[in-house]
Amino acid sequence: MDDGPLAATPLTGFLREHPGLRYVFFGGKGGVGKTVLAGVSAVQLARQGKRVLLASTNPVHSLSGLLGQDVFGRHTPVEGVPGLFALEIDTREAIERSKRDIRDKIQWFLKFAEISTKADEFVEAATTNPAFEESAMFENMVDLMFKGEYDVYVFDTAPTANARRLLGMSKVYGLWVQKMVKSRQEAQSLRETLSFTKKKEEDPLMGYLVDFRKRIEHARELLTDPAKTAFFFVTLPEALPIAVIRRFIDWFTDFGIPVGGVVVNMVIDPAEARSESEFVRNRVAMQEGYLREIAERFPGQVRAVIPLFDSDVRGVAMLDKAGEKLFAEPATA
Ligand SMILES: Nc1ncnc2c1ncn2[C@@H]1O[C@H](COP(=O)(O)OP(=O)(O)O)[C@@H](O)[C@H]1O
Ligand SMILES: [Mg+2]
Repeated sequence: MDDGPLAATPLTGFLREHPGLRYVFFGGKGGVGKTVLAGVSAVQLARQGKRVLLASTNPVHSLSGLLGQDVFGRHTPVEGVPGLFALEIDTREAIERSKRDIRDKIQWFLKFAEISTKADEFVEAATTNPAFEESAMFENMVDLMFKGEYDVYVFDTAPTANARRLLGMSKVYGLWVQKMVKSRQEAQSLRETLSFTKKKEEDPLMGYLVDFRKRIEHARELLTDPAKTAFFFVTLPEALPIAVIRRFIDWFTDFGIPVGGVVVNMVIDPAEARSESEFVRNRVAMQEGYLREIAERFPGQVRAVIPLFDSDVRGVAMLDKAGEKLFAEPATA
């Protein structure tokens, strides 16, 4: 197949134009190859001499399966790839930690406000919903990003709807915390006005909120900086995955989150157009139609075309093989 014009600015070119790229994400419909491509890029970036963390914030992990080694719960050096570490975040632990954190804050606050209610009810209400789990995951990702122990972070993200919500949430968080801080300030000054003693009281919740807002703002700065962050969208040459990434690219663009481009995965070798099998010939013809559609809909945004391999992509050897495609230099025309 002539993928020269389709991937006119390939990933390698994009990376050369973004030497400071630090946070790399893959989005797209379930099953299109997000985890595989996150693994492939992480391996390649490490092969270029970078110190790379491949991290999964998904509650359902697949990195251990991809790499053929257990990377759950701790930064694990990937065998055979110097400089590459992988980590499946222990979501259960992260959620419990967040719950403890919230409980502390609420208890603090109730005591400070002299309200004699048990914190439990509030904690239950605040933590028993899916948004809380997502937010705990987001916090985890942000923690990793802030530590800055690696040159590049490749995140195997949750399905994109969640990823977008997570990032969108940082915007909402910012506004929300701003409101909270303002009302805390008002409450504080009222307290001081009303109190006879002139002694200033520390408002513990206020400190927390201000700190939280700083973190969220910093996260948003990093995640919306096109020099540092790129979201790549993975599609197959099929109708539904194309529709999905179109929607996501529009959303992300609206949020000001940098879109790195599109990767087309599982493309059948066009030489198979001469296959004996009518089934295969039909699939190739169908894919050709969708490849044209992709070229039209995402002009200049396609970064790579990855063939459909005759087996699952697992283990470092396969990741290296797929890496030759993802990091292919354009054929000199
Ligand atoms: N180019 C490819 N050729 C063959 N199999 C692939 C290819 N890309 C992905 N796969 C396989 O497809 C399945 C889904 O890929 P995965 O990366 O887990 O998708 P996602 O993370 O988007 O849900 C996996 O079994 C993977 O090994
Ligand atoms: Mg996956």
